[in-house]
Amino acid sequence: MKRRAAITFTAALLGLGLWSITALSADDDDKKAAQEAVLKLVDAMNKGGDVKGQIAAITQKFDELEPIMWVYKPKKKGGIGMGKDGVDDIELTLGKIGSPTGKAKLTPQKLAGMKADLIKVGELSRAVALISEQDKYVQNYGKKNAAKWKDYTKEMKKGAEELLKAVKSDSVNDVKKAANNLSASCTNCHSDFRE
Ligand code: HEC
Repeated sequence: MKRRAAITFTAALLGLGLWSITALSADDDDKKAAQEAVLKLVDAMNKGGDVKGQIAAITQKFDELEPIMWVYKPKKKGGIGMGKDGVDDIELTLGKIGSPTGKAKLTPQKLAGMKADLIKVGELSRAVALISEQDKYVQNYGKKNAAKWKDYTKEMKKGAEELLKAVKSDSVNDVKKAANNLSASCTNCHSDFRE
């Protein structure tokens, strides 16, 4: 009897192990699929086409925003990231660049080196904002205050547009301001709505 109990116990443990492995990889698959979908959306937005269908398909496929927002994570964590080989976390970097107390001193040279990356961040954020403002996510996440949720998605979109404009005109000050605004939209929405 004892031996049997031990066998049952081991089998249960094995089952649990397998279960967590499948749960983990499903999560990773979701993030990979979301990243591909977001990059395709960015592409289509850059071409100026109609993206309504694409956004509807993304909204239908993903019940949660987490895999979508994961694009901001460093590459080695399964996101896109920025900097050499995507090692930098986009959210943290935006915060540093935008910080009015100026921890990261952005010079014209530094800006030139980051230009392509910052354009990517602006384009990604414009796309993620369009997804986040969809009714399904307003309902899933913005229950407490739908108007506020929508405001944050608008601020995110505006910050992204400002960043794109500032980077393309090589203005250090405007880039700092835009990064600060965009970063504030992330931080404010997270502190109000992320659990
Ligand atoms: C309109 C609200 C809103 C805005 C704006 C927003 N986020 Fe999020 N974000 C969320 C919510 C809600 C979650 C949690 C989703 C979940 O757990 O299903 C989240 C999750 C994330 C995650 C996933 C990992 C984690 O830390 O939970 C990252 C990374 C992230 N956001 C980055 C950003 C960045 C960077 C910006 C700004 C450029 C941003 N977000 C703007 C609402 C927002």
